[in-house]
Amino acid sequence: MIIAIDGPAASGKGTVSKALARHYRLPHLDTGLLYRAVAATVRRLELDATIEADAVAACDFDELTLADPVLRTDEIGQLASVVSAHPLVRAALLQRQKRFAHQPGGAVLDGRDIGTVIAPDADAKLFVKATPQIRARRRHTELQSHGSTLSFDKVLTDIRARDARDSGRSAAPLVMAADALLLDTSFLSIEASVEKAIALVEGRISPGR
Ligand code: CDP
Repeated sequence: MIIAIDGPAASGKGTVSKALARHYRLPHLDTGLLYRAVAATVRRLELDATIEADAVAACDFDELTLADPVLRTDEIGQLASVVSAHPLVRAALLQRQKRFAHQPGGAVLDGRDIGTVIAPDADAKLFVKATPQIRARRRHTELQSHGSTLSFDKVLTDIRARDARDSGRSAAPLVMAADALLLDTSFLSIEASVEKAIALVEGRISPGR
């Protein structure tokens, strides 16, 4: 079974995906980490994220980069959304994600284009959203817990900039797949979000039960 989870930054898609993976005992891939690793490599090599050839050169990143705590920073999140707009960067990371999705037994993947590009054939697709203010509050708290001193206003501005870039790009923009189910986590606790996500997936995979 393939479960595709898409949605904007800090919508709760990561938490929901991990919980669904645990619930259904499926492997999970946070595809945002791949773009974050490209961004961190661009920065380390002092390349220019806005130049497609530079960003492509960083797609061959060292696997250890995926565990680097720098990937969680706001700066790398912003840079990830710059490198991810290049079609050749998306192409370089495509097969890896498709292979993960289509491994025997299935998988849970979360990102921006899972239900539309990586696994349009997924058994269940969720689009997770929340208001920008609520997402910024969550991201601000999360960044603070990692020692960041960024203000709430800066986090909100950055989230809005990233939303605009991710939704406005021509290569695999962030859009809800026609057959995705909407999960608005704005006023839901983590537990309630997970419960709702499981109920939505169950409704898709065993309708009428
Ligand atoms: O965790 P958060 O939602 O803040 O971001 P992320 O999922 O780690 O993704 C970082 C950036 O990578 C996003 O802003 C997107 O620009 C890009 N991305 C993408 O283009 N396609 C994906 N499947 C996943 C992430």
